[in-house]
Amino acid sequence: MEQAKTVFSGIQPTAVPTIGNYLGALSNYVALSKNHRCVYSIVDMHAITVRQDPETLRRRAREVFALVMACGPEPANTALYVQSHVPAHAELCWILNNFTMFGELSRMTQFKDKSAKHADNINAGLFIYPVLQAADILLYDAHIVPIGEDQKQHLELARDIAIRFNGIYGDVFVVPEHLIPKLGGRIMSLADPSHKMDKSDPNPAGYISMLDDRDTIIKKCRRAVTDSGSEVRYDPAGKPGVSNLMTIYALCTGKDTDAVSREFAGQGYGAFKEAVGEAADGVLAPIRSKAAELTGDPARLDTLMAENAGRAAAIAGPVLNRVREAVGFLPRK
Ligand code: TYM
Repeated sequence: MEQAKTVFSGIQPTAVPTIGNYLGALSNYVALSKNHRCVYSIVDMHAITVRQDPETLRRRAREVFALVMACGPEPANTALYVQSHVPAHAELCWILNNFTMFGELSRMTQFKDKSAKHADNINAGLFIYPVLQAADILLYDAHIVPIGEDQKQHLELARDIAIRFNGIYGDVFVVPEHLIPKLGGRIMSLADPSHKMDKSDPNPAGYISMLDDRDTIIKKCRRAVTDSGSEVRYDPAGKPGVSNLMTIYALCTGKDTDAVSREFAGQGYGAFKEAVGEAADGVLAPIRSKAAELTGDPARLDTLMAENAGRAAAIAGPVLNRVREAVGFLPRK
């Protein structure tokens, strides 16, 4: 039998994940875990590229760990761990820095956006953030990287770094491919459908947090910005607000957007928005309660984190040794 391919992905514990994170990435974490070896990371080392309050970061890392676990990736096939528990990430990042060009990093749109947003703290970590992301992926020989559309440029850079490195030293790295859902790769803000839904949005009306309660979710959907007219029709360019809600509804119910149009034909936006809220809560409620169960047992969470970090480190170790040898480091006795 062909050996199962490896999947890697990461999520930052900078805020509670949103339904955008879930539909764009986390739902694929779960789907892929049925028949792949999966490595999923809560990337706290990425998070500190923007100033974080230490206590909040610790709490969030636990919360996001619990939430991802609560989504239900197959435990036998999944190593879910906290990035800073596996120091090999930092070591490989340093090596890869030497195979990444200043010009490439300068072109990263997320760096430009974040520099504009945090103009008082444009630090070197923020600049080399995509190299750490490449290290995350390449450290596990990952073939498949489930992400939302906003991470595509970073994944392309990871591929370029792997190809460049392999060109010099032979086939050291697996060159990864991204997996972006056709529908749901870019869930938009409920308050402004011209921007992506962002867990760090200062306006909570823009997102559905995975920990929002039922009433909050329904209220947010009711107030979501829609377009003029009253027809529930999928047209992302002409009707971005309605199309975004249709995407959320379709993915939460397993229907396609044509079926959604037919279902709400002649009903106007009111009934539709109500149904979107119900559907979103239907998907998130069981995850919420499972996550609460996990965070309610800190000792068990600690054990899970430690065990999983050990499993991840065991995969990363031999890959890092391969790289160390390739670049000419002496073996570590
Ligand atoms: P982060 O924490 O911003 O987001 C986690 C995942 O959610 C996806 N996503 C979305 N998908 C659809 N619609 C949206 N509105 C939306 N917002 C976010 C993201 O694309 C991502 O897949 N740099 C990464 C974390 C990372 C990583 C990695 C990812 C670090 N190392 C290695 C993959 C592989 C980030 O900030 O994701």
